[in-house]
Amino acid sequence: MQQSRARVSFLNLKPDSGSFLQDVVAGLSRARKELNPKYFYDERGSALFEAICELPEYYPTRTEMAMMQAHAGEMARCLGPDCLLIEFGSGSGRKTRVLISALEPVAYMPIDIAGAQLEDSAIALGREFPGLHVIGVCADYMRPLALPAAGHRPARRHVIYFPGSTIGNLTAPEALEFLRRARSLAGAGGAMLVGVDLKKDRALLHAAYNDAQGVTAEFNLNLLARINRELGADFDLASFRHDAFYNAAMGRIEMHLVSLKEQEVNVRGHRFAFRAGESIHTENSCKYSVAEFQALARRAGFMPERYWTDPGRLFAIHYLVAG
Ligand code: AVJ
Repeated sequence: MQQSRARVSFLNLKPDSGSFLQDVVAGLSRARKELNPKYFYDERGSALFEAICELPEYYPTRTEMAMMQAHAGEMARCLGPDCLLIEFGSGSGRKTRVLISALEPVAYMPIDIAGAQLEDSAIALGREFPGLHVIGVCADYMRPLALPAAGHRPARRHVIYFPGSTIGNLTAPEALEFLRRARSLAGAGGAMLVGVDLKKDRALLHAAYNDAQGVTAEFNLNLLARINRELGADFDLASFRHDAFYNAAMGRIEMHLVSLKEQEVNVRGHRFAFRAGESIHTENSCKYSVAEFQALARRAGFMPERYWTDPGRLFAIHYLVAG
């Protein structure tokens, strides 16, 4: 009895996820305390981020989604037929579905470090697009990566999709390194579609990261709750407050957790002293003008072929070709 070939498959490249404890201890030991924003996304944090995306003040998600709906056909024409569509990360996948419908790629390869979420979203996607070959790859796309042989129909070109302005979490030098690696993964003739939040009026930016309902504050503080829960720490959440502001010199929103008083915190036997007003830097969200991002892409070996923005010029999607 011949079964039809599995349409959804998984490859586990066994990413070295590092140690949460080691990273927390190292980050809190610095003169300027910091924590990596990748640790926001436990189950509660992921749910809070989904809620942020629905907030009236948080314009990026709905703006980029509307741009996908308006321009996916044009994007697909730019990219051409028989693409292998590689996505960095696998979030809710709403924008991805719009792109897949228009592009009809040879195969769709989401790459994510979170194996369980990756499997769930790949299986759901496979159901919705019965003809689509889906290859979930569990790996850290922020690190050097070689594409696995996945047995799909040969592709004309590799296209990396990286929506959501997640690239904004990286500083400019980190983003350059990251784009260079993406360029080599795409290979000669490959391409990248990347969503990047634009520089804009600082009041709009400020509101997007200081929402009236306090969801972003809860998202930020949940990082301390997670450290308490998973690492047995004793952060008093009421003694820290959310702070988000636009750092114009660096062109980025910074999120911090500010200690409201002089206090000491224990994390698995490591003691950290806080002065009143001292902060933990938890996230950068860099904003790029079109020209700034194109210059960065060129330095990474990409040709910026074209870009789309919304009528309010809040957000940009760049189409880059590997030169
Ligand atoms: C997922 C990194 C794009 O920077 O806007 C939203 C994360 N932090 N509100 C962003 C976030 C606070 C988001 N990124």
